Amino acid sequence: RQDQSKFVIAFSQCVGDDAWRKTMFDEMKRALSFYPDIEFVYRDAQGNNQNQIQQIRELLHENIDLLIVSPNEAEPLTPIVDSVFQMNIPVVVTDRKTSSGLYNAYVGADNTSIGRLAAQYTAQVLQNKGHIGIVTGLKGSSASIEREKGFREYLASTPLMHISIQLQGDWEKQRAYLQAKKHLDALLATDIILAFNDQMALGVKQALRESGSDEIPIIGVDALPGPGNGLEHITEGTLFASMLYPTGGTEAIRTAVAILEKNPYKRENILGTLVIDNENAGLMALQSDKIQEQQKDIDKRQELIVEQNRIYRSQKTTLNIVVAS
Ligand code: FRU
Repeated sequence: RQDQSKFVIAFSQCVGDDAWRKTMFDEMKRALSFYPDIEFVYRDAQGNNQNQIQQIRELLHENIDLLIVSPNEAEPLTPIVDSVFQMNIPVVVTDRKTSSGLYNAYVGADNTSIGRLAAQYTAQVLQNKGHIGIVTGLKGSSASIEREKGFREYLASTPLMHISIQLQGDWEKQRAYLQAKKHLDALLATDIILAFNDQMALGVKQALRESGSDEIPIIGVDALPGPGNGLEHITEGTLFASMLYPTGGTEAIRTAVAILEKNPYKRENILGTLVIDNENAGLMALQSDKIQEQQKDIDKRQELIVEQNRIYRSQKTTLNIVVAS
């Protein structure tokens, strides 16, 4: 622990290098810039359960005051996260969950609702009748399990809609692309495809394009703003729609700080979602550009404050030296 820091917050991230999680990390850093006396320790498990377990073990030796964790897969990560909780170190689970429910707070959208919303939207597009292809995420990650649950639950009420092919894309574009290549005929026989994130949706899109027929509407999840991300692909018409899945970086830090400072906080912090399609994608993109601009402004102001503090501190030391001599 650095001398002047009041608290140490550790963040164990399941995967670090995709755009959605980079956005989450940026949000966290921005939120943390308002608490200069909090030390932040970050570990990226690169999509590997064993790595993540080991990294959390190591974090426990660093005298952390709170753990934020996005568990790669629920079952394998449960024992270690439970043991952190049982050591009375507060745990904030974000986006994905463990399977025990032992945490102080959850921050993220409700993935079962996202699955249900996707099914409802699909039903509307297909007018309650047709064949659906689905591409799931990593088998054991709670976000995939819950999205599938919600989707299937809704489908139980629409007897003329069927899932005719289900592929596992592990949340990755390349993996979804290869799976789609392998099962091209089955995919081409569907009326609509839902991939559990936009990256996998783009992988499927690429495979369909290469096959020469890419008329089938493809839906994803995330609708992340920014160049090359889901939202842009909806405005360009590459993707048909996406369920907004906010990263919750800001809320995760705010919740962590509330817990540490013993302020009131909620156990379930459910972030909103909505369908983004060509009706509202343009407006969303405009709004997010605006927010982006304002955030740059905030960043600049924060930097100025840090710089002023530095000058102030160094002037104080000079003054002390002068007084002392
Ligand atoms: C990013 C991601 C998102 C998805 C989420 C599910 O790593 O795959 O695209 O919505 O994780 O946990």
